[in-house]
Amino acid sequence: MNVINPANNLNNYPLIRLRRNRQQAWSRNLISENNLTVNDLILPVFIKEGSNESEEITSMPRVFRHTIDKAVILIDQAYELGVPAVAIFPVIENRLKTADGKESYNEDSLMCRSISEIKDKVPNIGIIADVALDPFTTHGHDGLLIKGKIDNDKTIDILIKQSLAQAKAGCDIIAPSDMMDGRIVCIRNALESEGFKDTQIMSYAAKYASNFYGPFRDAIQSSQKLVGNKKSYQMDPSNSREAIQEAALDISEGADMIMVKPGMPYLDIITKIKSKFNIPIFAYQVSGEYSMMRAASENGWLDFSEIMEESLISFKRAGADGILTYSAIEMAIKLNNS
Ligand code: PBG
Repeated sequence: MNVINPANNLNNYPLIRLRRNRQQAWSRNLISENNLTVNDLILPVFIKEGSNESEEITSMPRVFRHTIDKAVILIDQAYELGVPAVAIFPVIENRLKTADGKESYNEDSLMCRSISEIKDKVPNIGIIADVALDPFTTHGHDGLLIKGKIDNDKTIDILIKQSLAQAKAGCDIIAPSDMMDGRIVCIRNALESEGFKDTQIMSYAAKYASNFYGPFRDAIQSSQKLVGNKKSYQMDPSNSREAIQEAALDISEGADMIMVKPGMPYLDIITKIKSKFNIPIFAYQVSGEYSMMRAASENGWLDFSEIMEESLISFKRAGADGILTYSAIEMAIKLNNS
């Protein structure tokens, strides 16, 4: 007798119709392989000096630079919606920028004051503090520029001080985004010896030298400043094996979680890293990605909330455990109502 085994015969129409499972909403829900929830979202927040002001960022419509008091209101809203964590970025006044970026470890800086104020007012949301020098330097680089070159080891000395100042201010997660070699082990050791053993590290392990950061540099007002480019420390977009090596090193140096950045053009990197390591992996849907989708929808060419939701589920499908996205509040509202 001719036994038909649908499992090993791909030419079996009409026995096999994949559309059967897709006919009804309940069935589509039942078979969905990946789900996006508010637990997956991290909201980046730009903070500036002053009070009671929110200023829209021209290249990132509907994203604002907030004074601390306004940021607290936004972050409280994020918390109420169930967003687990925020990542904060300071907009540093020009007069405080120096070649050595020393404002980065001032314990009374805008960044440190923001952290303690947020911890005080919204104690149960996770605070992720970026570690890198670019908001604080006159040349806009993430590290120290010495004789025209970024000095890896001297930069680490400053990053350690910056990390300790931010940990002391009360941040939960230190997120080094600078891409210096060896900084994770140095920061981890410093945190351990200074009594911050529970402070987590989310390393930007595979961070590419990307043009998608343009609007962010506007947002923190470092774009006019950048001397040259960041290619001597951020990764070449044509490489992926190197990303595995970056991730392996950061994990061995004590990172608690790692990040891939940018997001959508680098989903393959998330998948590759996920297949090799068991550490939580995050993705940063960066400013340029947000602005493209926002601009297209403001022109009526795309539906922002639909396109954003689809883009975020693609991160989950690729293997990300969570996503930093400027749309976190809007998406949290949408997900909570669906
Ligand atoms: C810098 C930093 C950048 C971003 C986060 N941290 C920009 C850069 O490396 O130039 C970009 C985020 C975004 O584009 O949304 N340390």
